[in-house]
Amino acid sequence: MRTQVGIVGAGPAGLLLSHLLAQRGISSVVLEKHSRSYVESRVRAGVLEQGTVDTLVEAGAGERLLREGLVHRGIELRYGGAGHRIAFDKLVPGRAITVYGQQEVVKDLIALDPSRVRFEVSGVAVHSLEDSPAITFDGGRVECDFIAGCDGFHGITRPSVPDGVLTTFERAYPFSWLGILARVSPSAEELIYAATPRGFALHSMRSPTISRFYLQVSSADTLESWPADRIWSELRARLETVPGFTLEAGEIIESGITPMRSFVTEPMQYGRLYLAGDAAHIVPPTGAKGLNLAVADVRVLTAALARFYEEGSSDALDAYSADCLQRVWRAQHFSWWMTTLLHTFDTDDPYAQRLQTSYLDYVTSSEAAATTLAENYVGLPYGWGV
Ligand code: FAD
Ligand code: DHB
Repeated sequence: MRTQVGIVGAGPAGLLLSHLLAQRGISSVVLEKHSRSYVESRVRAGVLEQGTVDTLVEAGAGERLLREGLVHRGIELRYGGAGHRIAFDKLVPGRAITVYGQQEVVKDLIALDPSRVRFEVSGVAVHSLEDSPAITFDGGRVECDFIAGCDGFHGITRPSVPDGVLTTFERAYPFSWLGILARVSPSAEELIYAATPRGFALHSMRSPTISRFYLQVSSADTLESWPADRIWSELRARLETVPGFTLEAGEIIESGITPMRSFVTEPMQYGRLYLAGDAAHIVPPTGAKGLNLAVADVRVLTAALARFYEEGSSDALDAYSADCLQRVWRAQHFSWWMTTLLHTFDTDDPYAQRLQTSYLDYVTSSEAAATTLAENYVGLPYGWGV
């Protein structure tokens, strides 16, 4: 088989890239190791920046998103027995986020044209990255001009780059997030980010009848150590900390534990291989940036590939990594900062705790500090930077 761009991975990055390329008349094939039902039901992120929504709409995948997505114009920071609203409508007028599950984004993108995706492909490997790239898999081979590595953090494309080419930057955190989806109406209209001495908790949602929650847990914890009763009592202990707030419990329909990690590889390209999304960088989920960054990478890559095919210039492809990394590092900093601000660290000393409270007080009382949080949270515009 021959195609112009061979894409490894049918997550948001690979699927969106395939559609944006098709809109520019560029052919692609997406190779995915899991089944369609698996990728469509994998529960992950939920917060879409305005630019992500606009990009999905441009790709033709916005119809259900615009109908069912929940537009939010603020979030609450809850700590020390009080809630504080970060009001996007006042601090960054006209900008908002949309709450819509990542697996719904994936479903919508696949439904646009399932024929470009090959599911349940095993043994994927990439070859001749410098000059004539090819992707092989059990029972097949794809010859292509370029390969897009959209296969997430544990994929095979990044490790296929020869030793010594990539530099990686990393932070590990001494805790994980336990996430649940529950059949119960949200207990508040907006997201609540709660910092407590027991650890962090997040109240989010998917629809008027489905809620999403996260708890900071120990890195050593497993789902077995968190039966439903323990999850709800811990969520209550961390969220019912302001007068008049009651958390409604319900049937837990999905749960999972995600380790927290920060990771960047530089450059995000080698020869004719371009890495996008989690294959190139990971952020802890506190800032809700992972999915949004993947979309931003794919926009840059689409424009660079279109320039190559339409004008015969490799300039934008050569600059791909540099063009992505400024946004990547902004999101790295914001996600690390939100994580540090809101979580309880095992190693915390009283001095560090006082600093944390001082910064929370600052962010919730100074318009300048709150604006910094708000403009990063809703997402900086594309093309932002020096
Ligand atoms: P992925 O979505 O990881 O897609 C990569 C695809 O490649 C997958 O379908 C995978 O099956 C496929 N693949 C991997 N290896 C191969 C191979 N060898 N051959 C073929 N296919 C392969 N972000 C937030 O903002 N908020 C959250 O709450 C949040 N929760 C998360 C929970 C988990 C468990 C994880 C892993 C991530 C979470 N994220 C969250 C991050 C966010 O979901 C990611 O940033 C986003 O999925 C990135 O999209 P992607 O397309 O780059 O990668
Ligand atoms: C959700 C996930 C996040 O990482 C976040 O910061 C906010 C909301 C969610 O899944 O709804």
